[in-house]
Amino acid sequence: MKALVAYYSESDNTKKLADALAFGLGTQAVRLEAVDVQTLSSYDLVCMGSPVQYGGPAQRVRDFIARMPTLSGKSCAAFCTMHAFGDRNTLQTLKTLLEAKGMVYLGGCSALGWSRLIANFGPRIFNRGRPNREELTRAEDLGRTLMAKMQVEQPTVAPTVQGVEGPRR
Ligand SMILES: Cc1cc2nc3c(=O)[nH]c(=O)nc-3n(C[C@H](O)[C@H](O)[C@H](O)COP(=O)(O)O)c2cc1C
Repeated sequence: MKALVAYYSESDNTKKLADALAFGLGTQAVRLEAVDVQTLSSYDLVCMGSPVQYGGPAQRVRDFIARMPTLSGKSCAAFCTMHAFGDRNTLQTLKTLLEAKGMVYLGGCSALGWSRLIANFGPRIFNRGRPNREELTRAEDLGRTLMAKMQVEQPTVAPTVQGVEGPRR
C-alpha cells in the first residue's frame, strides 16, 4: 500500500498534523509544492492537508486539486488546522473536491493552530502549543485507521492460488 501525505502550510501548524498522520501511516509527509500531480496515480491513498483560510481550504490547495488528474477508485483523506472555525466546511470541501476526481473518501481530522493573523493584533496567547499532543495523537490514530482500512481493501497477502500464498507485490 503506497500512501502520500501532502500538505500546504504557512506557519507549520498543518505540517505538524501532516507529520503525525504520516507517522501513523508509516511514511513521511511532503509539502504540496514538492508534489508533481502526474505522480499521484502511483499512490493507493492520498491524504490532503490545508490550513483553514476564510472558512475553507487554502486557494493553493484548491488549485492543486484542480490540476490533479482523475484518480478513479483511489482512496483519499483530508486534514486541516484552524484558529477557531471552519474545519467542518474545509474537510467537507476537500472531500467533495477529491471525490470529484473519482476518489473514495475514507476520513479526516482537524486541530487548532496558532494564527499569524491574530498574533499581528496582540500577544501570541491564542492557541499556544496547538496542535497539542492529544490532537497529534488523534492524527496518528487516523493514520493507523486509514492503513487498516486500506489493508482490508488491498490485502498484502494474495488469496491462495493452487495452494501457494504469497505477497501480491
Ligand atoms: C489568510 C488566512 C485566513 C484564515 N482564515 C481562518 C478562518 O477562516 N478560520 C480560522 O479558524 N482560522 C483562520 N486562519 C488561521 C489559520 O487557519 C490557522 O492559523 C492555521 O492553523 C494555519 O495553519 P498553517 O500554519 O499550516 O498555515 C486564517 C489564517 C490566514 C493566514
